[in-house]
Amino acid sequence: MARLLVSKRASKTPSSPIRSLAPLAVKAKSEGKKVFHLNIGQPDIESPKEFLDAVQNFDKKIIGYEASPGNLDLRKAWANYLKTNSGYDVSFENILITTGASEALIFTFMCCADPGDEIIVMEPTYANYLGFSAISGVNLVPVLTRKRDNFRLPSREFIEKSITNRTRAILLCNPNNPTGTVYSKEEIETLLELCEDYNIFFVLDETYREFVYDGQKPVSILENHKNNERVIVIDSLSKRFSLCGARVGCLITANEEVLARSLSIASARLAVPSIAQVAATHMLKTISPNYLTDTIQEYETRRNTLIKFANTTPGVNILPPNGAFYAIADISVENSTEFCKWMLEEFSDNNETLFLAPAQGFYIESKLGLKRVRIASVLDSSKIERSMEILGKALSVYPKKI
Ligand SMILES: Cc1ncc(COP(=O)(O)O)c(C=O)c1O
Repeated sequence: MARLLVSKRASKTPSSPIRSLAPLAVKAKSEGKKVFHLNIGQPDIESPKEFLDAVQNFDKKIIGYEASPGNLDLRKAWANYLKTNSGYDVSFENILITTGASEALIFTFMCCADPGDEIIVMEPTYANYLGFSAISGVNLVPVLTRKRDNFRLPSREFIEKSITNRTRAILLCNPNNPTGTVYSKEEIETLLELCEDYNIFFVLDETYREFVYDGQKPVSILENHKNNERVIVIDSLSKRFSLCGARVGCLITANEEVLARSLSIASARLAVPSIAQVAATHMLKTISPNYLTDTIQEYETRRNTLIKFANTTPGVNILPPNGAFYAIADISVENSTEFCKWMLEEFSDNNETLFLAPAQGFYIESKLGLKRVRIASVLDSSKIERSMEILGKALSVYPKKI
């Protein structure tokens, strides 16, 4: 029988570099090794009691569909949260609830660009943008940001060179995954001006909005441009409230057409799971602001531990991040993917090893990721300290060290 072919689109969709080595970690654990997961942005901080209680207390006799734009109470609670927590006065009508930020991004790609059109992203970039681009047929055009420039944005003129007549949007993740950079108000304004000049969308992925350190204030486009029709904000409960598995996010825009077209797509997938939305509503209405301030404080402590121990580990050079919970590190190996595999398959120290994300998957064109890894400081400080000790020992005996 002739071979059954899957679509070119599916064949071209990359698997997440963050997850692709996961089977090796499963195998290592099945062999009795302890694996420290600094590869994925999956925090170990407890989810809010308010959310968990609401799940326990869910007492409906039928779990029905929610409305396609999202549970009305949740949209109102999210608007209220933005107002009370950050002072951004966003109408609930401009909020569309999605299955995490991921689905909001897919809707945005689908609504802003046709197959063959282009969206500009900063490189290194959140790896799953590559997946969203493959499934929507939209080409990502990378603008390189460099470690030696602290991963700040290049000049307007440099970015402008990447704009073509097929460019439909600039997408910026702020604070950034994978570099931990917090872009400034000025950088945001420059990009917005560029989007105005070329009449394209400006998409801000603010999944990590509040995770900024050293006394900085969050920088959100919602502060001054929430009513700008070219602005689309991607938001999520996943990281902020340690609710990655709840799968609740949203798309925020004042652009009625984008909202209407996103809603058409949203209605084809019917709705976001009901229990998660009901629990999220209860949580947003009742949670103390201390949950978030304590969480941010904890991530700042972890970041400080990571910087302290990574930079005293021979063969590791890390750029201190000032937001989110990621950092890009240079490591003294020829190929970080091979090294990460080797750590899972062949290395252990006292029967413990480390899982890091090879950085190549965060680069689209540049080869700079080959000798880099992304480290997620999502475990408590003692585990981060131990992880850096394991990394140092692994590097000292790795056969393909440079
Ligand atoms: C920058 C960025 N955007 C979006 C997402 C997806 O988040 P969600 O869990 O809300 O789908 C992630 C998850 O790691 C992320 O880092």
